[in-house]
Amino acid sequence: MNAKYAGESFRKRFGDWAVIAGGSDGIGAAYAREAARRGLHVAAIARRTAPLEALSHEIETEYGVQSRSIQADLTSPDVVETIARATDSLDVGLFVYNAGSNPAAGKFLDQSVDAARFLVNLSCRGPILLAHHFGGRLRARGRGGLILMSSMACLAGSGYQATYAATKAFDTALAEGLWYELAPEGVDVLGVIAGATRTETVLAQNKESFESAMDPAEVARGALDHLGKGPNWIPGDANRAVAQGMWPVARIPLITGMTQASAELFDLPDDPVDGIEFHED
Ligand SMILES: NC(=O)c1ccc[n+]([C@@H]2O[C@H](COP(=O)([O-])OP(=O)(O)OC[C@H]3O[C@@H](n4cnc5c(N)ncnc54)[C@H](OP(=O)(O)O)[C@@H]3O)[C@@H](O)[C@H]2O)c1
Repeated sequence: MNAKYAGESFRKRFGDWAVIAGGSDGIGAAYAREAARRGLHVAAIARRTAPLEALSHEIETEYGVQSRSIQADLTSPDVVETIARATDSLDVGLFVYNAGSNPAAGKFLDQSVDAARFLVNLSCRGPILLAHHFGGRLRARGRGGLILMSSMACLAGSGYQATYAATKAFDTALAEGLWYELAPEGVDVLGVIAGATRTETVLAQNKESFESAMDPAEVARGALDHLGKGPNWIPGDANRAVAQGMWPVARIPLITGMTQASAELFDLPDDPVDGIEFHED
């Protein structure tokens, strides 16, 4: 946790620009609106241009900030080059890797291997490449925030969502490791472990199941409030209670212990990090 920045405004700490990968609808659009409400300019990335342009117009009109629409597929081979070209000139202080929903549930062997490959590209390869790109930029400027979207599906393996659950476990572990490594560099990393949330993607899959799910705005607001406090955030009291039951050992001592073991194994320095657990505030 970066105590040295405590008390600074959100804008000073995480501005001038937020880049949201998968930022045109659902939780990503909620991040874009919430970042803009807090005074950040917003660059949103998605495949379809019409929703991007509509959100961009809304944000500029509603919040008086600048916005950019970046048309890119996060699974494409040249994703880093495309996004770097569009954002290199911006003073990026916050990067959110949001996209990553499971397009279809079903048994692993009854789905094509391309469906699994797609999810690995979207939710493992994409976060690695872009966390490396933007993490490096944030570290060079000595401050900023990096959010990776995960899911309650990360808490255990799951039939019908085997690949999805595995990619989300990947995102949670990646966020926890980067939280530890980047905090001393002034960069706050947060893994957001969302439960069912009422977004366009999941409503299109099963309207009845998701109609009463959480509001994306609540997820984004809580995540941005928690940025800089600890490695994980779980939106919703009921979700937090479930996660506490499934994670009986506190995460920060676990991450610390694992890092100390790695440091000893590979003869590397260890720099312990302070933070609070997802259920504290
Ligand atoms: N909704 C839930 O119930 C729920 C629950 C737990 C966790 N989560 C997590 O929350 C995150 C967001 O979920 P969501 O429900 O809002 O839907 P999502 O489908 O993961 O994200 C939608 C946004 O991402 C963009 N996007 C999707 N695939 C893309 C690609 N290949 N390249 C570029 N942009 C892409 C979409 O625009 P385009 O389609 O135009 O590209 C849209 O802006 C995901 O990581 C998901 O795992 C969601």
